[in-house]
Amino acid sequence: MKITVVGSLNYDLVTTVGTVPQGGETVQAIDFETHHGGKGANEALALSRLSKEHDIHLVGCVGNDVFGKELTGSLTSAGVNMHVQTVDESRTGTATILVEQSGENRIMVYAGANQHVTTERFPESEYFPSDFILLQNEIPLETTFSIISQSRNHKTATVFNPSPIPKTSFAEYPFSDYIVVNETEAEALTGVPVPSVEEAYKALPLLLKQCSCAVVTLGSKGVVWMKQGEEKPGFQPAISLGKVVDTTGAGDTFLAAMCSQLASGRSMSECMRFAAAASGIVVTRRGAASSIPEHDEIIAALK
Ligand code: RIB
Repeated sequence: MKITVVGSLNYDLVTTVGTVPQGGETVQAIDFETHHGGKGANEALALSRLSKEHDIHLVGCVGNDVFGKELTGSLTSAGVNMHVQTVDESRTGTATILVEQSGENRIMVYAGANQHVTTERFPESEYFPSDFILLQNEIPLETTFSIISQSRNHKTATVFNPSPIPKTSFAEYPFSDYIVVNETEAEALTGVPVPSVEEAYKALPLLLKQCSCAVVTLGSKGVVWMKQGEEKPGFQPAISLGKVVDTTGAGDTFLAAMCSQLASGRSMSECMRFAAAASGIVVTRRGAASSIPEHDEIIAALK
């Protein structure tokens, strides 16, 4: 199967703190690291590590700088088919990330070159035909919405994580095959607070107004999902595989793991179990790209 990710490549600047500072406050940080990231790049790398039988493509932009060269070099080495253009007018996207000792993160994204991922720059032939297209929201929303809308004509399944949540009303989203959101994003789209699995079940029918299958990830509480036409939602508990040190990239890996299994013809329950184990490993490691596991690690974790 051909799986294409259209999305961001970021250089992540990660500072670990005991507690995040308040306005006007200065705190001593515990650690500082740089990592490869960007939701698009993380998903492409995760797909390539988790599904050797599929053909993985990444469409995106980097700046003409050392960050861009590093990111594209490592993705190429990982076997991702690169449709990544270097733009002179912007720097490579960055994410400034604060990680608390609990593993909880706060991310500030600077789009930079990612804002140049437009349908003018990338004609349809860069992403169609594809069996699956994965999209997030760190490139222009018009690009994402246009590709989702066109996918119907190409019989391409769309997997959409609208993160960070745009200002556009959810009712205006084009219809996707899969929408995958965390609890905060689910609340932003549906207006239903999602503090628990029971509340997440209530958000699912509202999410299904804009997709065929809705998935809500709830961190340590697990994941719920529902398909159009099915009466009962599904539930997969979280799979704990060690101490949580950094949750960055867990959502991206979850999405990619789910998609790799869908492309291999697995049932939703099987996809969710595999994806829960994949993100269960990611949170035990630091960084986004650097913490993504290989396929066999997940199989071993599930034994
Ligand atoms: O989802 C994690 C990613 O979000 C990070 O790698 C960062 O680059 C931001 O895009």
